[in-house]
Amino acid sequence: MRTVCHRFAGNMRIFLALLILCGGICQQTADAQSASEPATLAISCGALGVELTLCRQGVAAWSRRTGVQVKVVATPNSATDRFSLYQQILASHSPDIDIFQIDVVWPGVLSSFLLDLTPYVDQEISGAHLPQIIENNTVDGKLVALPFYTDVGILYYRSDLLEKYGYSDPPATWEELTAMAEKIQAGERQSNSQFWGLVFQGAAYEGLTCDALEWIDAYGGGTIVDSEGQITINNPAVIRGITQAAGWIGEIAPRGVMSYTEEEARGVFQAGNAAFMRNWPYAYALAQGEDSPIKGAVAVAPLPKGDVPEGKPTGTLGGWQLAVSKFSTHPEEAADLAIYMTGREEQKRRAIEASFLPTYPELYQDPEILAANPMMGMVYEPLTNAVARPSRVVKGKYNQVSSAFWTAVHQVLSGQAKPEAAFQSLEAQLERTKGRGW
Ligand code: GLC
Repeated sequence: MRTVCHRFAGNMRIFLALLILCGGICQQTADAQSASEPATLAISCGALGVELTLCRQGVAAWSRRTGVQVKVVATPNSATDRFSLYQQILASHSPDIDIFQIDVVWPGVLSSFLLDLTPYVDQEISGAHLPQIIENNTVDGKLVALPFYTDVGILYYRSDLLEKYGYSDPPATWEELTAMAEKIQAGERQSNSQFWGLVFQGAAYEGLTCDALEWIDAYGGGTIVDSEGQITINNPAVIRGITQAAGWIGEIAPRGVMSYTEEEARGVFQAGNAAFMRNWPYAYALAQGEDSPIKGAVAVAPLPKGDVPEGKPTGTLGGWQLAVSKFSTHPEEAADLAIYMTGREEQKRRAIEASFLPTYPELYQDPEILAANPMMGMVYEPLTNAVARPSRVVKGKYNQVSSAFWTAVHQVLSGQAKPEAAFQSLEAQLERTKGRGW
């Protein structure tokens, strides 16, 4: 019953998203039909925090320069729901959306629907981005997307509360974090019954794959599938990392965390109801914003390592790209808009206003960006040590691999499955998915 309800909720979200999207598209189609010639584009943008507003502003600046009308289409916040929506639109070869904001793990899965941007993009532009992202976005020699912003999982903490409870530094290990969260939570509960030690992304979706990968990589537990294509998920370090996380549920993390995505976690932390939060950098500018109840009391650090000799601080590599649909009827204009939106000027504006991480390395030393968001100075190192999800090696099967992984982790978190059994059966399932090869 729970699964049915969960699926229903997921489908419902997609349905609602389609309704919103259809509002946009139908309007655009009507415009296109009534006005005979001028190009009208549609771009799908994320809507996390102030993301949609930033997208609208960037698009408006490009429209003023070019005179081309652009419709901005909001998409669901959950990466998983967004993916389902894109798949439906692209699989029907619909020309309704020209530019898609795609996740760092999707170029391989979506490449057959995306335009090769190589003829539109100067070497000077592609050579200026972080090379690993350009490599990630290059599938079979085709540059299928331009880097829009990058991401890495980081630890947010309440500097005022660490000080209050006698801690001079953020936790270096997950074990330390657990102990600190317990102590701070016990103290704060005296005056705030809603207070929790830690919040993160525990819903059954792509975000949980990112969080859980950090828990296991911190113990040297690998990346689900290694760079050679071997399935490595059934090992003691994985079991240790995930068992520890399951122990947090109902203790230092609310049970509700098992349905949290990024924004629910931020909501709890920003309201002043959590000591620690795992999230992406976008949450920094918002948590430190004028209207944030915890403004001035927020600090960030790399995520902790596991307390084992092979333990390492780590953060999952995330990020978003702009890709042009093969079905766009205005590919030149669409490519030009994607180039503008992913350009230095736009990325700098987005870094200053909303702490989105640029994909141009030199912007991490930009004095204006550092002054607006000092966090940018700290984040470059975690970014260069980030752990990547195995999307490049498993190619078109990435979503099957990731959803099998987050499902297994979610079952362990909720107490429905024991970690040993869950990862043994996940291993067998992934072997079947792999078949003769990825
Ligand atoms: C962030 C990351 C993205 C990831 C998603 C999961 O948006 O940038 O790569 O897939 O979170 O929720």
